[in-house]
Amino acid sequence: MSHSSTNAQPAPAAPADGVPPAPDAHARAVQEMFGHVAGRYDLMNRLMTFGQDVRWRRFVIRQAALRPGERLLDLATGTGDLALDACDATAGLDVVGADFTVEMMRVGRRRAGADRLTWLAADALALPFGDACFDAVIQGYLLRNVSDIPGALAEQYRVLRPGGRVVVLETSPATPAPLQPFVRAHLRYGIPLLSRLASGNPQAYGYLLASTANFRTPSELGALLTAAGFEQVGWRSFMLGTQAVHWGRKPRP
Ligand SMILES: C[S@@+](CC[C@H](N)C(=O)[O-])C[C@H]1O[C@@H](n2cnc3c(N)ncnc32)[C@H](O)[C@@H]1O
Repeated sequence: MSHSSTNAQPAPAAPADGVPPAPDAHARAVQEMFGHVAGRYDLMNRLMTFGQDVRWRRFVIRQAALRPGERLLDLATGTGDLALDACDATAGLDVVGADFTVEMMRVGRRRAGADRLTWLAADALALPFGDACFDAVIQGYLLRNVSDIPGALAEQYRVLRPGGRVVVLETSPATPAPLQPFVRAHLRYGIPLLSRLASGNPQAYGYLLASTANFRTPSELGALLTAAGFEQVGWRSFMLGTQAVHWGRKPRP
């Protein structure tokens, strides 16, 4: 592992093959669902987004503005897509991929280059790290799944050093009106069909649709980042407004 740019070290956490922290009932249901879809998660992602998620992930990495030697947390890393992209984009990073669904990380650990990451079982609502020990925190599709978004953002703020960056990739319910019929058709017919064909677990993608419809608009999520204490908050929408990348910075004292 490359060296850290901070002196603070993370507190010990369960390894990816260890027992994840005990979550509440909602979190257990989320864990179970991702445990079921883990084997086909990457394929479904590519199919549902027409391969566009690769582009949004690159944008996340660019917004994180990582430099060699920095310490990065990819929270809800799943199969490690964002974390591995970060390693490809910037040499000499010290990257932790953390998630509370061990099955997702087991799939990720079989991927080429997976040993460049430290994989940890961790709950986003109670991160097993000391304060101010990461230069950047990134995440793909975490916040939609947590029962306490301000709590998850507070934990990310805590583990970031002053001046550290946060970047969030999420689905978004906000779509410009003229495009809504196309998006609705994809959500109502395209995704259920794909999930029957490819995922073997259509219920999981029913959850995806419901959680997307009920998720925050980009401006609401931006306000939550600001309320968590981040500054220079901004966002950009993708794919007809169905996806958004938000970013912010922890103020320096
Ligand atoms: C849709 S997947 C995203 C995986 C990956 N970040 C990506 O961009 O493809 C959501 C992930 O969030 C994880 N997750 C949900 N709630 C979590 C929590 N409270 N703590 C840690 N991980 C969580 C799930 O286990 C799952 O792997």
